[in-house]
Amino acid sequence: MLLDRKDTLQKIGIDVYHQRKKDAAKKLNSNQADVWKALEKNVSSCQKCSLHESRTQTVFGVGDTNADWLFIGEAPGKDEDIKGEPFVGRAGRLLNEIIFASGLTRESVFIANILKCRPPNNRDPHQEEVESCFVYLKKQIELINPKIIIAVGKIAAQQLLNTDQTMADLRGSIHSFGKKDIPLVVIYHPAYLLRSPTQKSKVWSDIVLAKESIN
Ligand code: URA
Repeated sequence: MLLDRKDTLQKIGIDVYHQRKKDAAKKLNSNQADVWKALEKNVSSCQKCSLHESRTQTVFGVGDTNADWLFIGEAPGKDEDIKGEPFVGRAGRLLNEIIFASGLTRESVFIANILKCRPPNNRDPHQEEVESCFVYLKKQIELINPKIIIAVGKIAAQQLLNTDQTMADLRGSIHSFGKKDIPLVVIYHPAYLLRSPTQKSKVWSDIVLAKESIN
């Protein structure tokens, strides 16, 4: 009997993932696409908080606006501020690996941050900055309508879930976001994993949890 590639890989114990067909109903309609464009334009000229004074440019987000998976980090760092794209530095490369190991690609998910501008010297976001900026992210979440949100790191998780719980409390369970109760799973920030590589296996169990929550 002739085995195809998928059968062969499975026989030797390699998990095979395939990208599911897009849910047609999830695609942004032309009106939503216009709203998305207007939002991006508003963000690029935003002066709602003082971070606009020190930024090189805003970092709106990257990926598929119809994605099932939405990854949300804390704020742009130096590399992201220069490039105008989230997670492009060392931590970004590790996030790409996490996404790839999940059977996904950077292009098939959407990646955004709580803040669209870099805080000086990568300090933690101030509450008034988060409050000014959150409206943009909320609109992005509404339009993308993801099947799962992955909160990348403590700050993103605490802001999205409006809590001051620790990572130890937050990771390892399925939370929910907003009125639509979108499942939300918290993973360690890749910058932390670069400092503490022994924690990487925990991210894998959190990704498995996320997969379970949408299957
Ligand atoms: N860390 C984040 O939280 N977001 C980025 O975009 C880059 C690093």
